[in-house]
Amino acid sequence: MSALGKHSTTDDVLQGVDLSGKTVFITGANSGLGLESARAMAAKGARVIMAGRDPEKLDAAFSGITSLIPKARLETILVDLASLESVRTCAAQAQERLEKIDVLVNNAAVMACPLNHTADGFEMQFGTNHLGHFALTNGLMPLVLEGVGSPGSGRIVNLSSRGHFMSDVDLDDPNFERRDYNEWISYGQAKTANALFSVGLERRFADRGVHAIAVHPGGIQTNLGRHLSEEQEQALIDRVTTSDPDYEWKTIPQGAATQVWAATATELEGRGGIYCEDCRVAEVDDESRAKGVRSYALDPARADALWTLSEELTGESFGA
Ligand SMILES: NC(=O)c1ccc[n+]([C@@H]2O[C@H](COP(=O)([O-])OP(=O)(O)OC[C@H]3O[C@@H](n4cnc5c(N)ncnc54)[C@H](OP(=O)(O)O)[C@@H]3O)[C@@H](O)[C@H]2O)c1
Repeated sequence: MSALGKHSTTDDVLQGVDLSGKTVFITGANSGLGLESARAMAAKGARVIMAGRDPEKLDAAFSGITSLIPKARLETILVDLASLESVRTCAAQAQERLEKIDVLVNNAAVMACPLNHTADGFEMQFGTNHLGHFALTNGLMPLVLEGVGSPGSGRIVNLSSRGHFMSDVDLDDPNFERRDYNEWISYGQAKTANALFSVGLERRFADRGVHAIAVHPGGIQTNLGRHLSEEQEQALIDRVTTSDPDYEWKTIPQGAATQVWAATATELEGRGGIYCEDCRVAEVDDESRAKGVRSYALDPARADALWTLSEELTGESFGA
């Protein structure tokens, strides 16, 4: 049994783990949990591809890690998940540069922004957090399949959130074209989509050795709250502390621990279509405000419907 839990850090998770020979691709790797995941896995010998949309931020993140770990095997790659053209360019560059990807961590996100649209006209949170990663994963899948065959390979980790409690995916109007926009319903919808995408991937690729895991990292103070006013931030804090009297903020190394665990834990070998929090697999719970995963976020029929919708919207077909 794992002794890991909600206070564990990335370094606790990776104690005694050797990632040399592994290639890890992380989106949103210039900030917060993505940056810490990159640092922690590079410290264990992984070749880490840090994906982000801003070259200056990526360079600063790269330098920050190499100053701590001079031998880190790091590379950067540009991707704006709010543009399918940028996603496709990134995937094509990755295919030229890499022989395989052992672990893909779909970590980037925008939270609770005002109504806004991606380059392709999708509502920003659904478009960036889900559709951008859907298209990127399709573009990188040949590399992920190349990695299959050794322990700890063929893993896709999708960052979801307890925020998924706020909304299922509205399959009829995901882009808020016929309903009023609400920044939290939108975030909840996108984070449910991240969990359902893990189920959809598992259903299509498990028999080829690729397994996908959704993760709630905890509550961590990062740049994710950049769109919140002081009042919105206070309302969020009040909401989470009322629904969970034992609520504790995590540090960034504690927050990134569950995604690093999902990316590397031997006890998860061959498992997918699951949702993890606090370095363990969460249980389905349709009542609690403080733990678990809603049944709608792991529903296979809804995962299939979202998959079909995502293929239609992006024009991407996994050919599976
Ligand atoms: N922090 C929490 O309490 C919490 C709780 C639950 C779930 N999560 C999830 O954890 C993940 C990491 O969040 P975080 O807390 O580390 O937030 P963060 O520090 O804001 O990092 C988010 C990353 O996503 C990138 N990003 C945003 N839009 C992008 C786009 N269009 N193209 C490419 N990259 C883009 C950001 O890049 P820029 O720096 O260029 O903007 C940044 O690197 C997210 O999926 C989030 O939903 C976080």
